[in-house]
Amino acid sequence: MKKICIIGLGYVGRPLAELFATKYDVVGFDTDTAKIEKIKADNPPFLCTDNPEEIAGCNFYIIAVPTPVDKNYCPDLKPLLKATETVGKILKQGDFVIYESTVYPGVTEDECVPVLENVSGKKLNIDFFVGYSPERINPGDKVNTTENIVKITSGSSSFALEIIDSLYNSVLKNGTYKAPTIKVAEAAKIIENCQRDVNIAFMNEIAKIFNAAGIDTQEVIKAASTKWNFLKFSPGLVGGHCISVDPYYLIQQAKVYGVLPRVMTAARQLNDGMGSYVAENVITKMNKKGILIKGADILILGFSFKENCPDIRNTKVIDIYHTLYEYDTFIDVVDPIAEKDCSIRILNEIPNGKKYDAIILAVPHKEFLSINVENLRKELCVVADVKGVWEKEEVDFRL
Ligand SMILES: NC(=O)c1ccc[n+]([C@@H]2O[C@H](COP(=O)([O-])OP(=O)(O)OC[C@H]3O[C@@H](n4cnc5c(N)ncnc54)[C@H](O)[C@@H]3O)[C@@H](O)[C@H]2O)c1
Repeated sequence: MKKICIIGLGYVGRPLAELFATKYDVVGFDTDTAKIEKIKADNPPFLCTDNPEEIAGCNFYIIAVPTPVDKNYCPDLKPLLKATETVGKILKQGDFVIYESTVYPGVTEDECVPVLENVSGKKLNIDFFVGYSPERINPGDKVNTTENIVKITSGSSSFALEIIDSLYNSVLKNGTYKAPTIKVAEAAKIIENCQRDVNIAFMNEIAKIFNAAGIDTQEVIKAASTKWNFLKFSPGLVGGHCISVDPYYLIQQAKVYGVLPRVMTAARQLNDGMGSYVAENVITKMNKKGILIKGADILILGFSFKENCPDIRNTKVIDIYHTLYEYDTFIDVVDPIAEKDCSIRILNEIPNGKKYDAIILAVPHKEFLSINVENLRKELCVVADVKGVWEKEEVDFRL
């Protein structure tokens, strides 16, 4: 009988636990007691615990804990290795440990397996097996959900691959792709996100050029998109937990092998600078219109890292906020759906009757698309649109 334990019940782990619970006995484990209580209150279809003893009876351990970077942008494998240690302590003959966290190629076999072996005293492919099956979910996306996405699977032996692959296949709607090795699966996941980062960086670069040249970037992209092989990416802020973090994992690995990752590094720098670029442009436009900057009232619409998603982790809207704050402006940040546990005050609604010297559509949640800007602007006002969703004629600046 398969009994599955999902370790780390966050954006990835919780939907995964729910999906596996449609077919199997599932226990969800997380070290965050408050989160466990919150999930329990929703009556989930799986058991939920912060007690490692309660997961000892499982035979599949799927690890979906964070893989952040430290303050020097180096991979921080501590949560992953801690979770691995937890599993190592309860590992039994014949168990499977599958990693879903995003890592650079080699982490599963070269970093995690030694911990599993040391802590458990057991041997890989004799006593237990490992696999890597990266998560591809896209926060806020209602189409590409956990059960709909084609999933890459891999295993420490051909036997492990078959078992792991059939486990995922039993709950997925669109099947799996069997990678030949664990390192290929790890590398595939990381380049999916690095590729997006680089492509968006190119769009941000051309947006800067065309903005300086007085050409509307959205119109350029629309025209270029009529070519069959043009890749339609958009300029914008790159925040969140994945695309703005994962490239550092591959950048770090490249350096270990003496390869200078010029393109990925430049992309990261460019994308990280877009928040202050937007804010500086708004200030310049206000100045040109004769709006007094010091003490100006500015409205920022949207705070989460992307549209129609509450996740505020690593949001780059904060860079817009901080840059504008340096100019002694008064800023209202309004986001009806964003998580509110943050150092900045986030309002659910635009204050009634208030008028602004500048309005910035930073994150185009669906709630904002029908807003009538005319009712919010002072006579002199700068309107900016970071994602190019408002008409060109309605805005003073857009990417
Ligand atoms: N969020 C996404 O859209 C997404 C998409 C694809 C891949 N990923 C990757 O999946 C992984 C998880 O991301 P997430 O967004 O779900 O993170 P998250 O922060 O939402 O959730 C991770 C959970 O793991 C828990 N945790 C931390 N250390 C633990 C430990 N030692 N034992 C048990 N639980 C522990 C945390 O308390 C948290 O609840 C990361 O590697 C991320 O890069 C995320």
